[in-house]
Amino acid sequence: MREIAVIGIGAGDPEQVTMQAVSALQRVDVFFVLDKGEVKQELVDLRSEILRRYAEDYRVVVGQDPERDRTTTAYVEAVDDWRRRRADVIAALIASELGEDQVGGFLVWGDPSLYDSTLAILDDILARGELAFEVEVIPGISSVSTLAARHRVGLNQVGRPIQITTGRRLAAGWPEGVDDVVVMLDAQTAFTEHLDQDADIYWGAYLGTPDEILISGPLREVAAEIEKVRAEARDRKGWIMDTYLLRRKRWEA
Ligand SMILES: C[S@@+](CC[C@H](N)C(=O)[O-])C[C@H]1O[C@@H](n2cnc3c(N)ncnc32)[C@H](O)[C@@H]1O
Repeated sequence: MREIAVIGIGAGDPEQVTMQAVSALQRVDVFFVLDKGEVKQELVDLRSEILRRYAEDYRVVVGQDPERDRTTTAYVEAVDDWRRRRADVIAALIASELGEDQVGGFLVWGDPSLYDSTLAILDDILARGELAFEVEVIPGISSVSTLAARHRVGLNQVGRPIQITTGRRLAAGWPEGVDDVVVMLDAQTAFTEHLDQDADIYWGAYLGTPDEILISGPLREVAAEIEKVRAEARDRKGWIMDTYLLRRKRWEA
């Protein structure tokens, strides 16, 4: 039976690749990569560096990532449709490129459990019933763990819940019932919508890479600085990946 290893590779530092991930990398015969046609050459280089350092005797097969419809307001439907089309591409690659007794691999940024569609896509493919394979997941060090470590903070206050959410959702309002909110996928600096809150922010960009930037402090005091630094860094490099923790100091039940 074919086997697929979904391997978390950490947030950007090859040293974050775990021993378990190294063992899995060494077993993989064929790595599958979707070409997103992006300018993030550094991310492509980082993946290549991880393979060069840790993998052995492998092939890399590249498929074309289908376009996502970013014009529609029907966000969930657009993402569902995109995922289905990605599943078509990946299913075709597995069928044509992976031998019946071989191991295929997907390198996943951070940890596969957080805002990543690889596992859902593989489930979709299995549900179609046309291909059979076993899936093994190797956890990775997420950008969220890296953010907390770099700022030397825990994510929760004593006995309190935390919520991990997206910039899009944070822009729509502070989540109910939580004081600690971790925000990912924020293209719109949604923290600036919450300057009325008595909160601290712990912000990090390019975590784990040589370009890492960290800023923390009272949200009202550092929000403008983060916006400025973020815009400058994005212009300079052509892309940005950032994550932050918002911590409201007063519990409002
Ligand atoms: C599609 S999600 C993937 C998350 C990934 N699975 C993880 O565990 O970190 C991409 C988002 O993760 C965050 N992210 C990933 N890598 C990062 C890094 N090196 N520095 C800061 N944020 C990062 C950003 O919020 C980015 O928008």
